[in-house]
Amino acid sequence: MGRIRRHPKFDGVFISGPNDNFRLYTVNLDTNRTIYGEKLFEENGIQYREWNPYRSKLGASIRANARKIFLDRNSRLLYLGASSGTTVSHCSDIITNGIIYAVEFSARSLRELVQNCADRPNVIPILADANHPYEYAPYIYDRIDVIFQDVAQPNQTEILIKNIYRYLKPKEGKFIYAIKSRSIDTTVNPNEIFEKEINKLEAAGMQIMDNVSIEKFQNDHIVLFGRYLEHP
Ligand SMILES: C[S@@+](CC[C@H](N)C(=O)[O-])C[C@H]1O[C@@H](n2cnc3c(N)ncnc32)[C@H](O)[C@@H]1O
Repeated sequence: MGRIRRHPKFDGVFISGPNDNFRLYTVNLDTNRTIYGEKLFEENGIQYREWNPYRSKLGASIRANARKIFLDRNSRLLYLGASSGTTVSHCSDIITNGIIYAVEFSARSLRELVQNCADRPNVIPILADANHPYEYAPYIYDRIDVIFQDVAQPNQTEILIKNIYRYLKPKEGKFIYAIKSRSIDTTVNPNEIFEKEINKLEAAGMQIMDNVSIEKFQNDHIVLFGRYLEHP
């Protein structure tokens, strides 16, 4: 494993091993509890949780050299498609002074999320359909800085745009968007799908700041990092 050190760019993210093939970690906010079978390590009285890039598209993006992840200890994050909390839990380790509104529409996954995050005070699980952003507005009492979306649905770009318009401030709000080409169309070349979805976002007033291929960790996926400029 080697010594664990700070990631050179990202607050709250830690690495070990060679710079071009490192292992990723966050500091475990919920000491001694694991969420998806990840390993725990103690160093100098700090407990680190290994972050598996094959299980988390944000972890994969960091391994694939994302330029920014937009998250820091104070972020207010709206996370769409939280599932049982694999990536949410690492975001919760990073955002120690902020909050994560974690939206998931499968009652079974939400139950696991609630159990997994019971002792993570910065995670608010919400059972809702991300297609209807106004329905969960009563539970969101902060301004949102970043929307993370990983819902794997054919209309995932439209879902993201609706949520951006409802929750992000123009010129300030950021988004992280995992696109799975096979959720949109299995018959079309993934690159054509990615281009089409990027065009939709740009036409809707978004600027793509980084386009990260995570192919090495998850087939036919990219992760876009961008910001909301203005409503067209
Ligand atoms: C690929 S999984 C998410 C994995 C998770 N982001 C992680 O890294 O730990 C996609 C999740 O989105 C949820 N989902 C799909 N459509 C949704 C919708 N319209 N609203 C809310 N959740 C949705 C699914 O139930 C599933 O749990």
